[in-house]
Amino acid sequence: MRAGRALRGDWSVLSILRTTTSFLEERGVSEPRLSAEHLLADVLDCRRLDLYLRYDRPLSPPEVESYRSRVRRRLAGEPVQYITGVAGFRGLDLAVDRRVLVPRPETERLVAEVLEWARAKAARGEAPAAGWRILDLGTGSGAIACALAVELEGVGLVVGSDKSRPALEVARANAARIGARRVAWVEADGLSAFRAGAFHAIVCNPPYVAETERFALPAEVRDWEPAEALFAGPEGTEAIARVVEDAPAHLATDGLLAIEIGDRQEPVVRRMVEAVPGLELLDGYRDHAGRARGLLAIAFQRAAGEA
Ligand SMILES: C[S@@+](CC[C@H](N)C(=O)[O-])C[C@H]1O[C@@H](n2cnc3c(N)ncnc32)[C@H](O)[C@@H]1O
Repeated sequence: MRAGRALRGDWSVLSILRTTTSFLEERGVSEPRLSAEHLLADVLDCRRLDLYLRYDRPLSPPEVESYRSRVRRRLAGEPVQYITGVAGFRGLDLAVDRRVLVPRPETERLVAEVLEWARAKAARGEAPAAGWRILDLGTGSGAIACALAVELEGVGLVVGSDKSRPALEVARANAARIGARRVAWVEADGLSAFRAGAFHAIVCNPPYVAETERFALPAEVRDWEPAEALFAGPEGTEAIARVVEDAPAHLATDGLLAIEIGDRQEPVVRRMVEAVPGLELLDGYRDHAGRARGLLAIAFQRAAGEA
């Protein structure tokens, strides 16, 4: 049965959700129920959970038609967020498309770690009067930068940088849409564009997939998301290594480096951090499955020219 034939006739919200879920499931599409719900909520212009408040609402033929075309795209492997054009991140609705990585739940945790560090520092009276400058290195959709700009009281400036100009266009539009102030965008490769000691924190979710793991990735990631957001080199840790080595020079004394890592990279990255003069490992964090997903380190040497 094709998506077209499966979705003809008279439909209510609940019946079309049930049919689509089993249809997508039989064809091996990941998260079939969630996909069906997001796509239908997009067509009906409501929140996903509100579907269940109107479960017996009949769909008009044009609604069924729009839904069918979305289901067809999902069947072809396209991520739900690219189809709906929206990804949720720490309560923000961010516009996303193929120019940027879809922000992930584990990255929400990276932001939470930075907020916790910043709030603890402020509680100790260590917040600089002029406000903090934070860099989101490799900002993509602007998810981390926007969340920090919205959630971190007293932040002076959040800079989102990326070497991808198309990604920066998405990030800039997201900040404008959600009304995030105190953000700036810089097109730059790594940290080279920034002066010594420029930031009180550098937050980074770098590409960390090894080229050799390309075909182990789910097709909906490998074939749809930007390669420059995923792949770092033969080992997978190349971009992380560059950030770890370059960060101390660009951090103020006691500044934070917070970096997301792949779930098997913690021992290697820990050794990298320990080997870099001027950085001291502070902490690490794990995801819900207990896998190490990020490291925090502190810059302890005053960089020349520091603000
Ligand atoms: C894993 S994505 C993270 C996107 C976003 N921060 C997030 O967490 O959803 C990595 C981002 O880093 C950017 N990037 C890759 N290499 C870079 C480099 N050398 N300098 C600056 N940005 C880079 C990519 O274009 C991509 O947007």
